[in-house]
Amino acid sequence: MEYGEDIMISLNINGETHAIDVDPATPLLWVIRDYVGLTGTKFGCGIAQCGACTVHLNGAAIRSCVTPAQVAVGQQITTIEGVSKQRGLHPLQQAWIDEQVPQCGYCQSGQIMSAAALLEEYPSPSDAEIDRVMAGNICRCGTYPRIRKGIKRAAVAINALDKEPVSDG
Ligand code: FES
Ligand code: FES
Repeated sequence: MEYGEDIMISLNINGETHAIDVDPATPLLWVIRDYVGLTGTKFGCGIAQCGACTVHLNGAAIRSCVTPAQVAVGQQITTIEGVSKQRGLHPLQQAWIDEQVPQCGYCQSGQIMSAAALLEEYPSPSDAEIDRVMAGNICRCGTYPRIRKGIKRAAVAINALDKEPVSDG
């Protein structure tokens, strides 16, 4: 790949603004990992075929290995480190622990980011919806049945939270 010149760009990652001196054509994955130091997002294939590098851009799951950093300027980027909007774990992260989803773990941050976007679209997803949306996230360890269980457990937890009465405190 041919790279141009470094320029200063500003990226909002997990609610924090980062001023970064970088070639704006650099894949967002490498800016997140090497310039900002958030290493939860993984490199798998580099060609949008495995999902290990999945992050959110304005809430939508994208492959950061093929997304130039300049595309994310002025957008909200969320990585696995910022997926939980409250203190503590995201319900998906808790479900991943409860269902013991990971094996080697390498693909799992990408799996969770895709699953989080899935649950925004389908709060109570069917097996077919899970399989369709998650199809782009490859797991070499074959944890797919546990991923599906984890998503369903998290969906129940999120829906229960949504039904809790709001305290006027
Ligand atoms: S590393 Fe981006 S999809 Fe595989
Ligand atoms: S847990 Fe090993 S690749 Fe998915």
